[in-house]
Amino acid sequence: MALLEVRDLVVGYDQYPVLHGVSFDVEQGECCVLLGLNGAGKTTTVTTVAGMLQPQSGSITFDGKELRKGSPSQRVAGGISLSPEGRRLFPRLTVSQNLKLGAWSRRRDSKTLKRQMDLVRDYFPRLAERENQLAGTLSGGEQQMLAVGRAMMSRPKLLLIDEASLGLSPTVARTVWEVTSRIKADGTTVLMVEQNAGALPFADRALIMEKGTLVYTGVGDELRTVNLREAYLGSGA
Ligand SMILES: Nc1ncnc2c1ncn2[C@@H]1O[C@H](COP(=O)(O)OP(=O)(O)O)[C@@H](O)[C@H]1O
Ligand SMILES: [Mg+2]
Repeated sequence: MALLEVRDLVVGYDQYPVLHGVSFDVEQGECCVLLGLNGAGKTTTVTTVAGMLQPQSGSITFDGKELRKGSPSQRVAGGISLSPEGRRLFPRLTVSQNLKLGAWSRRRDSKTLKRQMDLVRDYFPRLAERENQLAGTLSGGEQQMLAVGRAMMSRPKLLLIDEASLGLSPTVARTVWEVTSRIKADGTTVLMVEQNAGALPFADRALIMEKGTLVYTGVGDELRTVNLREAYLGSGA
C-alpha cells in the first residue's frame, strides 16, 4: 500500500471545479515531482492533501487511513507537512522562532523538537548561522530553506514542497533540491511541486498535470525525451 493514495479528487473554488478527478499514489520512501504549467492545479492538489481545501468528491488515504474532514493542524500532527508556495514565513519573527512554530504540534515533546532543530541546522547550515535574524531580511534562497526547514520541524512522514525553485537562481534552486534528496534519503517521503523541469533529476518519479488532470506518470528518466517536455512543460523546459 502506498503512503499517500489520492483517488478521483474533485476540488474547486466556489463550487467551480479546477481538479477534475485526480488519482495518484506516492510510495513510502520515494521523492515524487508534480510538474505542470502555471494554473494546472498543482497547488490546489497539495493544499487539499494538507487539509486547507475540502474536496467536492474523491478520497485521500494516508498511512492506511482515509482522511476525513480535518484541519491543516490535524494533518500536521498526523504526519503531513507543507512548505507552501510563496513560503509564507513570519517576516518579523526570527529564523529560530519560525522554526519553532513549525514544531507546534510537537511543542510538548522537547526531545523531538531538539532533534528536528539539529537536523534542520545540519540540512541548512546557512540557517544555523542566522538563527536570530528576522526572516523578512533573509535572501530569497534562505527564505526558501527556512520554509522547508520549518515544514521539517514537525517530523513529517510526508513532506509537500510547493515550488521551492520559484524566483531562485539555478545554483540556489539546486542547493534546495539537493537537500530535498537528503531528506528523502533520511526516510521522509517527498512530494514536490515544480514548474521547473530542472527538478527531474532529483525525483524518482514524475507526475504531469495539465488543466486539472494528470496526463502522465512515469520515472523521471523517461521525461527527458524532447516530446513530453515540449508538450507539457513548454518549450523552455
Ligand atoms: N483562491 C482561488 N480562487 C479561485 N480560483 C483559484 C484560486 N486558486 C487557484 N484558482 C484557480 O485554480 C486553477 C489551478 O490553480 P493552482 O492550483 O494554483 O495551479 P498551479 O499551482 O498549478 O499553478 C487556476 O485556474 C486558478 O486560477
Ligand atoms: Mg502553484
